[in-house]
Amino acid sequence: METTKITIAIDGFSSCGKSTLAKDLAKELKYIFIDSGAMYRAVTLYALNTNCIQEGIVNQTALIESLNDIELHFELNPTTNSPEILLNGLNVAHEIRTPRVAKVVAKVAEIKEVRKKLVLEQRKIGANGGLVMDGRDIGSVVFPNAELKLFITASIQVRTNRRHAELLSKGIEISKQDVQLNLEERDLIDSERKESPLKQTDDAIVIDNTELTKKEQLNKVLNLVKHSFKVK
Ligand code: DC
Repeated sequence: METTKITIAIDGFSSCGKSTLAKDLAKELKYIFIDSGAMYRAVTLYALNTNCIQEGIVNQTALIESLNDIELHFELNPTTNSPEILLNGLNVAHEIRTPRVAKVVAKVAEIKEVRKKLVLEQRKIGANGGLVMDGRDIGSVVFPNAELKLFITASIQVRTNRRHAELLSKGIEISKQDVQLNLEERDLIDSERKESPLKQTDDAIVIDNTELTKKEQLNKVLNLVKHSFKVK
C-alpha cells in the first residue's frame, strides 16, 4: 500500500489535551510531533529571563529587537521518546510549564513579530509532511492546506481538573481556582487577539473530549486518519 505522509493540524483551547493527542498520534503514525505552544512558552521564558517582561508587562520593543538572539529547536528525549524544546541550547521543557510562564505567555503570543518568526520555523519543520502539530493557528495560518484538521474542546471544569492534577504531579502548588482563572484569561486573549486568533476553520473536525478517555480519543482520531487517507 502506498504511504502518504500527511499533515495533521490540531487546534483548540488551553488544556484540552491537544498535545497529548498529538504526541500519541505521532507515535502511532511514526510522524514528527511538534507542540507549537512550547515555542511561544520558550520565547516567553527568554523574555522573562532578559527582563523584557517585568511585573507582567511585556516590553514589546525590547523583545522584538532580541528575537534574532532566540534560537529554538527540538530534541528527542530518549526516555520518553518525545521531543523537548531547547532555548539557545538549553533544555527548558520543564521550566516553560511553570505558572511564571503560563501567566504571561498569551501576551507574548499576541505580538505579530513573534508569531511571524515562529510560524516560519513551524513551516520549515513541516515542509515534508508526516507531521502532527498542535496549537491555536495551525489549521488556520501555519498549515491551511493540512490534510486533516482537528478542533479539540472540553468543558472548563474538566480542563481545570486535568491541568491542576498535572501541575500538582510536577510538585507545583496552585489552587484550582487560580488554574481556572489562568485558563479563562488565556482563552480570552487567544480568541480575541488581532494576530491569528484561535478559531475553528470550516474544514476542521470538532472533537469534544469532556467524556472521552485519552485512549478513546486516540482511537477515534486514528479511525478518522486511517479511513480518510492512505496512511499505514
Ligand atoms: O498550548 P499552550 O498552552 O502551551 O500554549 C501557550 C500559549 O501560546 C497560549 O496562550 C496560546 C499561545 N499559542 C498560540 O498563540 N499559537 C500557537 N500555535 C500555540 C500556542
